[in-house]
Amino acid sequence: RAFFRPLQQAAPPSPTKRQTKISVIGTGNVGMAIAQTILTQDLADELALVDAKPDKLRGEMLDLQHAAAFLPRTKIRASPDYAVTTASDLCIITAGARQIAGESRLDLVQRNLALFREIVPPLVRYSPDALLLVVSNPVDVLTYIAWKLSGFPPNRVIGSGTNLDSSRFRFLLADHLEVNAQDVQIYHYLVDVAYLVTHIHCELLGLFIIFLILMLGCDIVSGLCNVLNSVALWSSISVGGVPVLSSLEKHQIAYEEEVLESIRKAVVESAYEVIRLKGYTSWAIGYSAASLARSLLRDQHSIHPVSLLAKGFYGIPDDREVFLSLPARLGRGGVLSVANVHLTDEESNRLRSSAATLWEIQQQLGI
Ligand code: NAD
Ligand code: LAC
Repeated sequence: RAFFRPLQQAAPPSPTKRQTKISVIGTGNVGMAIAQTILTQDLADELALVDAKPDKLRGEMLDLQHAAAFLPRTKIRASPDYAVTTASDLCIITAGARQIAGESRLDLVQRNLALFREIVPPLVRYSPDALLLVVSNPVDVLTYIAWKLSGFPPNRVIGSGTNLDSSRFRFLLADHLEVNAQDVQIYHYLVDVAYLVTHIHCELLGLFIIFLILMLGCDIVSGLCNVLNSVALWSSISVGGVPVLSSLEKHQIAYEEEVLESIRKAVVESAYEVIRLKGYTSWAIGYSAASLARSLLRDQHSIHPVSLLAKGFYGIPDDREVFLSLPARLGRGGVLSVANVHLTDEESNRLRSSAATLWEIQQQLGI
């Protein structure tokens, strides 16, 4: 006997709604934090999970499925076979090799390149119209690699970039000013140049960093290296619509400038601190990636600092195919446009120098 009895009169056809499908590749700490945020925020009708470890993958899938009674209805599937990702609207890549002691950052990038060669082509084959969101580190270089391997137009390949760092900055400044973090605006550019280890102009620094890797572990050092090359756009910070820097200059408040600089350092160190304390970061990147998924799939046209093909912007030469974080308007088509933020000469010089460093690294990848 059927569980349901049909109505006596024929039911009107259900309104057809386009189904949204998100795939998450890599079900480690970050992939699972993203998956669970997507579920609780009701961002997808179907969620597909892929990982190279079948038992862990199945365990994670079952654990999420068992929460069905407490969540909006989402079909959750998992398989090491990429067929499970068929017809995804958005594929989020979090899989990544971990750095091993003594390994150079360039070798790590090379290993991740090999891994992305396994991941990106099947994603493209099964979802030729998808958006790709890269979260794995080093995010700017891996987004470039994903773009190259996918053959997608650049607007459909995005790196999570400094979306999370911006949130950290907003939290710290909001905490200092006792306002809501959502009222703080900042576009904080930060380039992951931990591969300075292998940078030809930085041999002494490289030796020092190798020493730190051996003493402290690679994730911690990766956090420290970010401090060396972060570009915070002070001129873009505003609180409740009031531009902070010009307001400080007008009132000649030097002390607060020092506070801002200490917050800039704390932003980078906060990732390091979380890794030191719990071994990895996960919840904040989960929310960060989910916020990007919402802006993209719900066509929000919201502005986020994400990693995108930056050539031609802010004086970055047209022949430099590098992905860097810039404030982008995101919608169903991916990156819709880039906000034309005013940069000081120093800020744009630093941005161009970051682009040059990334470009040099990419030259060594042979892709
Ligand atoms: P993790 O080691 O916990 O998870 C990585 C997962 O990838 C593992 O489950 C592993 O089995 C899987 N994997 C490895 N090779 C694979 C393959 N070929 N195919 C499918 N899956 C494969 O690491 P994590 O803590 O989840 O971090 C993941 C990545 O995210 C790291 O690169 C980390 O640095 C990065 N991250 C980025 C940000 C950001 O803001 N962009 C923030 C936090 C972490
Ligand atoms: C982060 C990682 C480590 O949480 O990139 O910022």
